[in-house]
Amino acid sequence: MTELDQAIFPDTKRSAVDAYLAAIDFEVEPPIAGVVEAMRYSLLAGGKRVRPVLALSTAAALGHDPEALMPYAAALELVHTYSLIHDDLPAMDDDDLRRGKPTCHVVYGENVAILAGDALFAEALRLVTARQQGDPADILAALDELLHATGAAGMVGGQYIDIAGEVRTAEQLTHMHRLKTGRLIGASVKGAALTLGAPRETVDRLAEFAAELGVLFQIIDDILDVTGSDADLGKPSGSDERHGKATYVSVFGLERARALADEKHDRVRELLASIDFRGDAGDLRSVSEYIYSRDR
Ligand code: IPE
Ligand code: IPE
Ligand code: MG
Ligand code: MG
Ligand code: MG
Repeated sequence: MTELDQAIFPDTKRSAVDAYLAAIDFEVEPPIAGVVEAMRYSLLAGGKRVRPVLALSTAAALGHDPEALMPYAAALELVHTYSLIHDDLPAMDDDDLRRGKPTCHVVYGENVAILAGDALFAEALRLVTARQQGDPADILAALDELLHATGAAGMVGGQYIDIAGEVRTAEQLTHMHRLKTGRLIGASVKGAALTLGAPRETVDRLAEFAAELGVLFQIIDDILDVTGSDADLGKPSGSDERHGKATYVSVFGLERARALADEKHDRVRELLASIDFRGDAGDLRSVSEYIYSRDR
């Protein structure tokens, strides 16, 4: 990560997320210690924490104390980490480096890695049901958003489209990106607003902004797979090409992919600027800029 990236990313919120995640004990007892070790290995291996920081930044923009949203924010990172563990498995992208370390299945075996992912998903839901404070109806609405974003019509559906290998057109590509990455990024912002009982119109406008931001995130990820190094990315560069994946770069070429990222970035800024926030939206703007500029 460059100095510029560090300058614009809300590091205080990231550190708070890291500390909260490290303190989750998963009720470890001797017979299950192995799977908990694998869960913690991947969860605490680093990671930019973009999704929880987006959630906390949304809380700040809505005029709430971000700390109050920490269980929901942490849940997003557990879901995301589960998706990475499974995404790296030999049956999926077959990658051996993640967050600068050997992937979960390389260290603990495929069977344990599958279970670690499964358990992270369930434990994510428990963070919300057991620890998130707020109006139960608002929390249920946020949980519904998180689950919808993660399931067959969301992240898992997008991952299926990816492995099915039938993406040919620009429309199909954008649809895949919306599902596999956009929906969880969307739930980071929209779920935060729902948990905090924000007015319906604000929720809808934030959701529209976050959906576009999520697509921008995956376009940049596709570009970095080509332009980044293993050391920069903490994961193997060139993975998409090795596996014949349809990406913004394989479909459009690098220059056009960059131009499309520029267009999406303009759209994201426009949408964010059109929302009238009661609180401080500075960090929300910063994360959006970070997501775009980590390619530069
Ligand atoms: C990688 O996500 C997977 C995608 C959805 C593109 P991140 O780039 O947020 O990975 P970490 O959490 O920082 O490791
Ligand atoms: C993964 O997309 C998206 C999810 C994990 C849901 P990628 O396969 O492009 O992510 P990386 O590049 O391995 O992080
Ligand atoms: Mg993948
Ligand atoms: Mg992958
Ligand atoms: Mg990728």
